[in-house]
Amino acid sequence: MDQSLHTPESVDALLLDDVRTGLAQTPKQLPSRLFYDAEGSRIFQAIMHLPEYYLTRCEFEIVNENKAQLLQRFLRGTNAFELVELGAGDGLKTKVLLRHFWEQQAEFTYIPIDISEDALNGLATSLRLQWPDMAVESMHNDYFRGLSKLSAASYTRKVVLFLGSNIGNFSEDEALEFYHQLSQRLRPGDLVLTGVDLQKHPAVIQAAYNDSQGLTRAFNLNLLRRLNRELDANFDLSAWDHYESYNPETGEARSYLVSQKAQQVRIEALDETYSFDYGEIIHTEISRKFTREGIERLAEATNFRIDSWLTDCKGYFADVLFERM
Ligand code: AVI
Repeated sequence: MDQSLHTPESVDALLLDDVRTGLAQTPKQLPSRLFYDAEGSRIFQAIMHLPEYYLTRCEFEIVNENKAQLLQRFLRGTNAFELVELGAGDGLKTKVLLRHFWEQQAEFTYIPIDISEDALNGLATSLRLQWPDMAVESMHNDYFRGLSKLSAASYTRKVVLFLGSNIGNFSEDEALEFYHQLSQRLRPGDLVLTGVDLQKHPAVIQAAYNDSQGLTRAFNLNLLRRLNRELDANFDLSAWDHYESYNPETGEARSYLVSQKAQQVRIEALDETYSFDYGEIIHTEISRKFTREGIERLAEATNFRIDSWLTDCKGYFADVLFERM
């Protein structure tokens, strides 16, 4: 997730740094971007199909229902655009848009930007098979380096896709900083389509992050498996539990790993031994849920105006089209 300072070449150093810094905090924490090794990415794909994980289905419905309106909006006042996707993943929802744009013979270039080379290669291959003549320019890079490299010379409208409630994995300050940076790299009239999960009955949100098949639990615990493998740590996975809390007053869902006994864990790559008390937590993820007022404040503070507010039929999720002022 928060990739702003990350280059693909320095991932190992960053992993070491993330873990050293996070485990020195009180309470201990590990950033959620560490979830996404190959196994974590695979589990996340499965989470998106869970009955309790409504977010993906709701957003799929929104883009499918509004694809014609979105194309009109992307083309207003211009005849071509660059469709830049930040954190493209497998592009499931984006393909609904791409299919429509292609069928309508719109003039666009699709530019998926992702820090995961595997994800990008998989996406590029499947796009080549489906639409061999579509203009696709994958960029293996972090979000901001990728954005700043885009066609500085001949100017074409940029439409940035930031879907899937990825914004929810930022703290409030990080989200502000992210939209400030986006704003600086875009020009007036450029657009950003952002997927945001909305506040709703707390039980619905709680269940989405504590599913009955235990996939979210496996996703959270996989982070420790990754540290065992990549940093030569000795976390005993049977001594850790997954715990999720949702606070409807703040709109924050938080994931924790809970130590089920007093224990010591050695991380060889850091040459450190960490002590955990019985019941001690490691905070691993924040998934923020939004109100319309909160999104309006974000737009106002970062020089965007809200052009469209599109929701699913239950009103669980919104895709918000921001226009750079
Ligand atoms: C990627 N991100 C928006 C997901 C979310 O809902 O915060 C990651 C996730 N964590 C647990 N389940 C899904």
